[in-house]
Order: sequence, then C-alpha cells, then structure tokens
Amino acid sequence: MTTLLTAQDISVSLSRTAPPVLAELTLEVAQGETLAVLGASGTGKTTLARTLAGLRHPDTGRVTFRGVDVRHLGARTHRALRCDLQMIFQDPYSSLDPRQTIGQALAEPLLARIQDSASRTLRIESILHALALPADTQARRPHEFSGGQRQRIAIARALVGEPALVIADEAVSALDASVQARVLNILLEQQRRTGLALVFISHDMAVVRHMAHRVIVLDKGHIVEDGPTEKVFTAPQAVATRRLLQAAA
Ligand SMILES: Nc1ncnc2c1ncn2[C@@H]1O[C@H](COP(=O)(O)OP(=O)(O)OP(=O)(O)O)[C@@H](O)[C@H]1O
Ligand SMILES: [Mg+2]
Repeated sequence: MTTLLTAQDISVSLSRTAPPVLAELTLEVAQGETLAVLGASGTGKTTLARTLAGLRHPDTGRVTFRGVDVRHLGARTHRALRCDLQMIFQDPYSSLDPRQTIGQALAEPLLARIQDSASRTLRIESILHALALPADTQARRPHEFSGGQRQRIAIARALVGEPALVIADEAVSALDASVQARVLNILLEQQRRTGLALVFISHDMAVVRHMAHRVIVLDKGHIVEDGPTEKVFTAPQAVATRRLLQAAA
C-alpha cells in the first residue's frame, strides 16, 4: 500500500513547565486507510491533528505528505498537493471565512483541478445535496447557517475536491444521528471510489469501530496502543485503552 502521510519522532510542548503533549510520536497513514486516534480529553488528539496537517510545527521531528514536508504545503508550487490534504476541525467557525459565500469557499479547493466554472458549480451542488443542505446554500455566508449546517458545510468543503487524505477532528460529533450517518456514508463511499485516507478522531467508540481499519490510543504524549480495530476492541493491551472502552460500555 502507498504511504501518504508519515510523522517521524514528532514532539510538541505547549508550555515550558508541563510534560510534552506529544513525545516523539511516529506514525504512517496509507492510501485507502482509516486510522482512528483515541485518547481521553486533553491527551493531544487535536494537537496531533493540527501538527499532521502542517498547521502547527513540531518542536522535533518531521511530517511529510506524499514525501513533502507539510510545512512547505503553503508554497504556491504545492497548491495541488495542499488541496489533496484537508482537515475538518472540531469548531467549524475556524475553517470558514465569514466574508466568503459558501459557493466561493467550496470552489477554492476545486480551482486547481476543475478549470470550467460551470463544472465546479455542478460538483459543489452535488456535495451540498449529498449533505442535505438547502439548494440556495452557495449564495449565502457562514453566519446565515446553524452550527450543524456550518459543520456540514465545512465537511463539504473538505470533501468537494476528492482529496487523498482528510484529517477529521470530531467532525461528526455535534451532528444529529441521521446527518451523522449520511456523512459517514459519504466518507466510506469516497474511500471505496477514490482511495481516500482518513485520520479519524472521535470519542464515539461505535463510530470508530464502524469506520476505522486501525486504531491508535494516545496517553501522556505516547502512542500506547496501535493495532487493527477489531483486535484493539476485543483484546486491548494498554490500560488507557481499557479505560476508554469501559467508559463507553
Ligand atoms: N494553546 C494552548 N496552550 C497551552 N496548552 C494547551 C493549548 N492548547 C491545548 N493545550 C493543552 O494541550 C493538551 C492537549 O490538548 P488537545 O486539545 O490536543 O487535547 P485533545 O485530546 O484534543 O482533547 P479533547 O478530547 O478535549 O478535544 C491539553 O492538556 C491542553 O490543556
Ligand atoms: Mg480535541
């Protein structure tokens, strides 16, 4: 399998006095794979997600996407590569520009790959429809939507360009059950069709079991568990994993 993303010995400290949030973590994500990241609140899942996406620079170590250091993804020459790595945040406000219409926001990741604006509009209509968003969504701005609708718009923006990798940090947690199922099905469908890889952060064990091929568990800066989903759920090795599973039972 093709490796898309690698993190090699990455460490992140957020304060001088506290122990590091991430301590020399190493991981890989392959094309077509869903890697779930579990861990109690405050164990660094969001910090890891942001570091993998190149939004935060690690104190040590390196993250590469298709062999390119993610800190270089901002360069003009890497525009297509950048579109191929998308992130869905816990807080959808941070990923949507209030001044842009939704149509403009969703066209951005398509500019590099679909030249014709009518074709772009069709693609955007199709993903908005799949996410059960109103037909006039494209002309409106983020503040005109509910929190749940905004989250769906952020998801649409991440998926519209059919990226190679999506890092999803509690992307569906705030959505009601039927919308959540719809989003998960879209992710699975894209994965089957395009080989989408996912880094999937969720505290919902049922969703993780349904979605993930592989699971890692974070505790005190380290990966304390790493294995195939069924194995982790049925025969957890680490104390932290057993705690999480017990809390969810
Ligand atoms: N800006 C910051 N400055 C200092 N410490 C921070 C900052 N942001 C997060 N932290 C600390 O870093 C640690 C990891 O936070 P992070 O948000 O990555 O955890 P998380 O696993 O995503 O938690 P949750 O499940 O609640 O979303 C926490 O202990 C938190 O207190
Ligand atoms: Mg978090």
